[in-house]
Amino acid sequence: MLATLTLDTEFHAGPIDPRIFSGFLEHMGRAVYEGVYDPDSPLADDDGFRTDVLEAVRGLRMPLMRYPGGNFVSSYDWTDGIGPRDQRPARPDYAWKSVETNQFGVDEFMQWCRKADTAPMMAVNLGTRGAMEAQALVEYCNMPAGTYWADRRVANGRREPYGVKVWCLGNEMDGPWQAGHVPAAEYARRADQAAKLMRGLDPTIELVACGSSGRSMGTYLAYDREVLEYCWDHVSYVSAHRYSSNHAGDTAWYLAEGVEIDRIIADYAGLFDYVRGMKRSDKRVHLSFDEWNVWYKAMEMDGRWTKAPHLIEEVYNLEDALVCAQYLNAFIRRADVVKVACIAQIVNIIAPMLTRPDGLLIQSIYHPFALMARHTAGRSLRTQLDCPTYKAGSRGETPALDVSACLDDEGRLALFAVNRSQTDAVTLDVRLNDAVVTAATGADALHGSDPRAANSWEAPNAVEPTPWQAAAQDGRLRVTVPALGFVSARATIERK
Ligand code: AHR
Repeated sequence: MLATLTLDTEFHAGPIDPRIFSGFLEHMGRAVYEGVYDPDSPLADDDGFRTDVLEAVRGLRMPLMRYPGGNFVSSYDWTDGIGPRDQRPARPDYAWKSVETNQFGVDEFMQWCRKADTAPMMAVNLGTRGAMEAQALVEYCNMPAGTYWADRRVANGRREPYGVKVWCLGNEMDGPWQAGHVPAAEYARRADQAAKLMRGLDPTIELVACGSSGRSMGTYLAYDREVLEYCWDHVSYVSAHRYSSNHAGDTAWYLAEGVEIDRIIADYAGLFDYVRGMKRSDKRVHLSFDEWNVWYKAMEMDGRWTKAPHLIEEVYNLEDALVCAQYLNAFIRRADVVKVACIAQIVNIIAPMLTRPDGLLIQSIYHPFALMARHTAGRSLRTQLDCPTYKAGSRGETPALDVSACLDDEGRLALFAVNRSQTDAVTLDVRLNDAVVTAATGADALHGSDPRAANSWEAPNAVEPTPWQAAAQDGRLRVTVPALGFVSARATIERK
């Protein structure tokens, strides 16, 4: 099959925010304990951090790491996790029915972020706590020495403020499962009050208001609208969450998931324009897609009041990796709307890597993320795709390819393409209206014949990328995207 992608260097959606390649670490299951922090492990460094996890996280080049939840944050008292470890209380965690030992808290997280080459994106508890506790955490993290909480930080070993720039005002507050869940009007007031106090201490911080927790919620967009209308002046982002699933085992249908992701982003773009128009405002609010991934196979969420229980340790296969690539393609295409996005999560819990005492397993979804984070730069080129379609079950005729493209200031073009067809390779001819491709500089592909193929401890490299062919021909880039495949291709261009 043949497809044509037409680009124009002047036709773009603006600069791509590297923060779309961010991550999420929650106190849940074995994400923190046995994941990032495992002081008894021979693989741990002097701070008790797993070095193999640190190295793999660095490979994902994540600019931000959202923490500490998730649902966990809504019944969490951050002051439990600071100070001498032997004086920190163990607490029952309402969200995951687990025992939280508090041996890893704010200061350990900040230290871990430094080693992981990432920056903290802190969530405050607006479920069971309020504006004062949120403000105290900003004081602890961002104020110079000389006030109570800042001095507590200094006493705990850190003189300089951490300078946390991005803060989430609670988590999924429209969800009945959420500790302290409230209707939109009440959350909007809580969020606005917290925002004023938090930005009162540090006006440089950016705030994320909770949007609805998903498109299947009755509150979808309505919650978001009410919150945004109330908090417009104080927030920079609204959050969106989505977990994709293939319960019916219908690969053709599942691989059209990108169409739904595009719709969600378009819904939010419309909402932001609507509220902006109603307010006659010049301000822009953007989307923080701060939980996204595939999650439907591993649904154990009851920790039975144990420490570091095995919860939602999803095993990812090839088709899941192709869906994850489509999330990132969608974020790149809508660089004008999506400024932050966090894959949920990073280790053990619905994650690109799994640990056991003697090592680390890289899952299929790690690979498109790593390739895209490495090669995305510059601005997002609008994509005019002429492409064959395939039958995606109840989702109907759907383009076989899902693509995104970006161009940096040095004339380096990167193209990312998913082929949803399970049977046919698609040869893609990429042409630029106002430029010629001078050289193909590299390509990688992740593909296979079995959509359920997955890495395992016995076969850790069953799904991994291989070097691929791309060619510059007659001023165009030509690359074949294999069936059930993902390709990252790079080229240099010169303007005509
Ligand atoms: O990522 C797991 C959970 O999914 C998060 O805690 C919550 O925000 C979402 O429902």
